[in-house]
Amino acid sequence: MHKVSFVGMGYVGLCTAACFANKGFKTIISTNDPKKIEMINKGIPPFYEPQLEELLKKVIKNKNLKAVVGRKEAILKTDTSFITVGTPSNPDGSVNLRFVEETSKEIGKTLKKKEDGHLVVVKSTVPPGTTEKLVKTNLEKQSGKTCGKHFLLCFNPEFLREGNAIYDTLNPDYIVIGGYNKKSAEALETLYKEFHKENSPPIIKTNIPTAELIKYANNAFLATKITFVNTIANICEKIPGADVTKIAEAIGKDHRINPHFLNAGLGWGGSCFPKDLKALIAFSKKLGYNPTLIQATCKANQDQIKFTIQKIQKELKTLKGKTIAILGLSFKPDTDDIREARSTKIINQLLREGAKITAYDPMAMPNIKKVFKEKIKYASSPTKCLKNADCAILVTEWEEFKKLKPEDFTQNMRESILIDGRRVYDPQEFSKKLRYIAIGLGEPLKPQL
Ligand code: UGA
Repeated sequence: MHKVSFVGMGYVGLCTAACFANKGFKTIISTNDPKKIEMINKGIPPFYEPQLEELLKKVIKNKNLKAVVGRKEAILKTDTSFITVGTPSNPDGSVNLRFVEETSKEIGKTLKKKEDGHLVVVKSTVPPGTTEKLVKTNLEKQSGKTCGKHFLLCFNPEFLREGNAIYDTLNPDYIVIGGYNKKSAEALETLYKEFHKENSPPIIKTNIPTAELIKYANNAFLATKITFVNTIANICEKIPGADVTKIAEAIGKDHRINPHFLNAGLGWGGSCFPKDLKALIAFSKKLGYNPTLIQATCKANQDQIKFTIQKIQKELKTLKGKTIAILGLSFKPDTDDIREARSTKIINQLLREGAKITAYDPMAMPNIKKVFKEKIKYASSPTKCLKNADCAILVTEWEEFKKLKPEDFTQNMRESILIDGRRVYDPQEFSKKLRYIAIGLGEPLKPQL
């Protein structure tokens, strides 16, 4: 069986490493952060992800996974290394490649000492051209060896979602292998066939720049699909009786559209869509092309925040001194991640307008406290969050919020105004008992005589 290593311990690195180890591969994960290493080797993930902790405990105990400081051991003791370091944004939206650069240099230095061949796989999201120009060049320069001959190189994008990372790693819709040469692509294909056995998903083999662009295309398409349904939602709100959930249900039946990623809301956030769309715009512009569709998608996503604030303003007339309850802070359910979360944008805007905020989330409270400190109030339950609020906004559709009844709002709030940003509640039931405003829902139709 192959021995694999992962350089970089974010979501992708750690979740994929845990899955490889659980399939019986001897797996090493490396980072330069000794604190993280200590946690991993105790079976404690540095972030929340469903199923990860039990998986980690299992593979640490059976010694299939080991976390180490630095890259050397990871490269020398395995035959395949995945680069899974972060690729954050520069202020202009372009990708900051310093971790990829640093890592490829370090791997190159170790490859110099390695007698056997090695397969290097870039999994970090990088602009087309990066793997061949930056990674290959550094690997060859530092090792004194030739790519395709002494070591192999692939780009292999990742499509896992936070909150579903383990399931997605075990059940991907497809795998993309961008190979430097045929031998490189075949080596990675063999590894994935060993991983998935008889349940192998379709494997698309191509050259490296195409594979690099597939990652951006996939994320840009999904973000645009959500923005499309949000646009229809905004139109619905202007038409009495119109309902975006019915429209999504209907158009989702067309197999060319499909029902996934058609849930209207307050916009998309997270560590991937915002960063990757900005990067796609930045590198397209650099190539002399203005990707107007992607620019419009980003602009429309920002506007979704503005429209939400306008909805509250319309109800409360002024926001000055009013208390707004924010239900849900993570960028989506089942994660404590608040990167580019809609909640933070909404809270910032409301604070600017002079509103007071009380916030609650089942998982993300520690992270949100680091951002807003004493500027907002924190509640320990949904109903405590609603206490004396003038308006509530449901931002993230956690299961816990779905159980709330109209009375939880009417009995706790000063004014029972609810903005359901994720279409969690039954409009008929809620409209009878409180002022219920929902994304993509027109005012109720007058009953027909
Ligand atoms: C996204 C992609 O879905 C993954 O395939 C990809 O691997 C990942 O980015 C990445 O590049 O690493 P993720 O950001 O974890 O995954 O989360 P998603 O489930 O895609 O959600 C992103 C945002 O879209 C969230 O704010 C979510 O609330 C929103 N969303 C999603 C909607 O508003 N409506 C939907 O129907 C679906």
